[in-house]
Amino acid sequence: MKGIVLAGGVGSRLRPFTYSGAKQLVPVANTPVLHFPIRQLVQAGITDIAVVVGDTEAQIRAALGDGSPFGARLTYIRQPAPLGIAHAAGLCRDFAGGKGFVLYLGDNVLVGGIDAFVASFRESQAAASVILKQVADPRAFGVAVLDGERLTHVVEKPANPPTDLAVIGVYAFRPPVFEVIESQQPSARGELEIADTINGLLALGLRVDTSVTRAHWIDTGKMEDILAANRTVLDTFEPATDPSAALHGSALHGMVQLGRESSLDGCTVHGPVVIGSRSRLRNSVIGPYVAIGDGCDVSDAVLTNTIVMEQSTIRDCPGVRDSMIGRFTVVTGAPAGSRLTLGDHSRFEAAE
Ligand code: DAU
Repeated sequence: MKGIVLAGGVGSRLRPFTYSGAKQLVPVANTPVLHFPIRQLVQAGITDIAVVVGDTEAQIRAALGDGSPFGARLTYIRQPAPLGIAHAAGLCRDFAGGKGFVLYLGDNVLVGGIDAFVASFRESQAAASVILKQVADPRAFGVAVLDGERLTHVVEKPANPPTDLAVIGVYAFRPPVFEVIESQQPSARGELEIADTINGLLALGLRVDTSVTRAHWIDTGKMEDILAANRTVLDTFEPATDPSAALHGSALHGMVQLGRESSLDGCTVHGPVVIGSRSRLRNSVIGPYVAIGDGCDVSDAVLTNTIVMEQSTIRDCPGVRDSMIGRFTVVTGAPAGSRLTLGDHSRFEAAE
């Protein structure tokens, strides 16, 4: 089997971060989201992977390279415009070469991996297989309608969802899917919808398997989802301190990861917290649920439930919470209780 990971699209719901970067590269627990689908495909035995890219192709290539660090062989396929998930998959017909494939949306993560899903699809004769997840508000997703255990159809982003079963962004298909995609018409929003693809397979009488997952599922499409994803992934980490990290008069509680050549001086860290490489923290209280990227400088700050991306400076901030702070950003004197959403290269300075 092969893998197809989608890393195109626009990312308008993740502005300001997507002004300067691809949405699939926003870091969750200091890891670009896109690394998770690639790692999970490899873990499930799928190493021949196409990555569909759009305008952010250069950044995606820089983040993934030829795939060798992941144990994968990557083929980049350019989508000329974000014309839909099914359109992106359709571009990979030659790549699939008559084989079945897993399609993994590059901003989705099924926590715990896809090994069992892939193994059961390999053994089945189904034309497709989808994973469903019970969600509180299914309106932002494809929603599955079942008759017993049999999928009857999928409704894309319904205003009045017929069920609470979202179709998550991990699918498996066999080659008949390409015939369906080629016969599809764009939806009202101008996209070739993956929901219509699944409905097309069902209309041909082909078998589409379903399974309902109880694992955590992360769709990082929206801003509020990123902090939740950060918490979920941090909860799966084990503590680790790089031997080159320096701790002076600091206390670590719970799950804390400290990267290479980072230093803590007079800090208290309440895990889960991950701190990247070469970051310096002084007189600060960090956590829980904080991810600080590489090369950051944090002093006299209290941070909770916050992502600080690489090379940023936080100074004299007695209470920053529920915040996302971009790369190369400087925040000084944010008052207690501040919730900040600052893109890359931003500056926040308190008035004197
Ligand atoms: O997250 C699961 C949901 O994903 C499903 O429940 C929906 O049925 C499905 O349509 C999709 O909905 P989204 O609105 O969340 O999809 P989004 O436009 O965010 O695209 C998902 C990923 O695919 C994202 O990484 C960008 C990429 N993409 C998207 C489009 C439309 C492309 O590479 N090319 C595209 O043309």
